[in-house]
Amino acid sequence: MEIRIERATTLKEKPKAGEALGFGKYYTDHMFVMDWDRGQGWHDARIVPFGPIPMDPASMVLHYAQETFEGLKAYRTKDDRILLFRPEMNARRFANSNRRLCMPEVAEEDFVEAVTQLVACEKDWVPAEEGTSLYIRPFMFATEAAVGVHPASSYKFVIILSPVGAYYPEGVNPVKIYVEDEYVRATPGGTGFTKCGGNYAASIAAQVKAEEMGFTQVLWLDGVHRKYVEEVGTMNVMFMIDNEIYTAPCDGTVLPGVTRDSIIHILKSWGYKVNEMHLAIDDLMKAGHDKTLQEAFGTGTAAVISPIGELRYKEDEVTINDFKTGELTQKLYDTLTGIQWGDIEDTFGWTREV
Ligand code: COI
Repeated sequence: MEIRIERATTLKEKPKAGEALGFGKYYTDHMFVMDWDRGQGWHDARIVPFGPIPMDPASMVLHYAQETFEGLKAYRTKDDRILLFRPEMNARRFANSNRRLCMPEVAEEDFVEAVTQLVACEKDWVPAEEGTSLYIRPFMFATEAAVGVHPASSYKFVIILSPVGAYYPEGVNPVKIYVEDEYVRATPGGTGFTKCGGNYAASIAAQVKAEEMGFTQVLWLDGVHRKYVEEVGTMNVMFMIDNEIYTAPCDGTVLPGVTRDSIIHILKSWGYKVNEMHLAIDDLMKAGHDKTLQEAFGTGTAAVISPIGELRYKEDEVTINDFKTGELTQKLYDTLTGIQWGDIEDTFGWTREV
């Protein structure tokens, strides 16, 4: 894929070393843009100065939400190399999301090439402090100006970059999770397995409710029985019960997380039994009360590994591991981030130098 580069004439001031980056607060100087229309397919791949995207008010994304996105990160190693972590997995998930929403697919090699070239162009923006990275947000949306429900005839694929710190203010300290029993996130046959904006829009009411009650995130139950544990707002979720790991299967309603997959590989390489199965919330709470629930944590690109210290379901509440980060959770965090930041040998072959 040929990518035209138009450099910004003035560059932004970068956040100072040591300044709290937060999440999604700063954006770099350039973005990647590529257009699709029915006649030409993908064309005009370009890296241009970061800035507003002019849109027709009738653009279909604004009315029918044909929009998908991805999230991955670039990391600066101590010897100043820039690493990407399994970008091909994001490319494949993006294609799956786009197929479900009747949007055009971006070839895996083009997705990876676009990410790589943009990050290479912005490598001075990859922060160096511990726990920081450059968050990469590829997204696609329907641009056809038409107020009618059908697959749009034109789309834009854009990638923006943001230097980030921890997603949750708690950092790697335990979070409190509210088990949502009123709203649902996904049902079989729906879009639960895709990363589309609509899934997140529909989740906000529950998130607001949970935050008002002092919780960081919601834990979703399955949309049919409201009985089985699925995922947390921005993460997949895993539980260690009696020395075995439990997590929901990716059978249509759960987002197939890249961090989830990586953690499962690491756990299995350490000899853990990982059960990808439907775990009933009643059984989970019971395990919390009888203390066979030893650890719980969320996994996600933005959040990395986030220990769960407390679960509230209806009137019932359990504290996990005395609200402390568990030994296994910490070891997984250290191992995963060690591979991502190039401090630990990447025996899985997951990192790719920019
Ligand atoms: C990610 O983990 O990369 C996400 O996209 C989750 C969230 C920031 C929406």
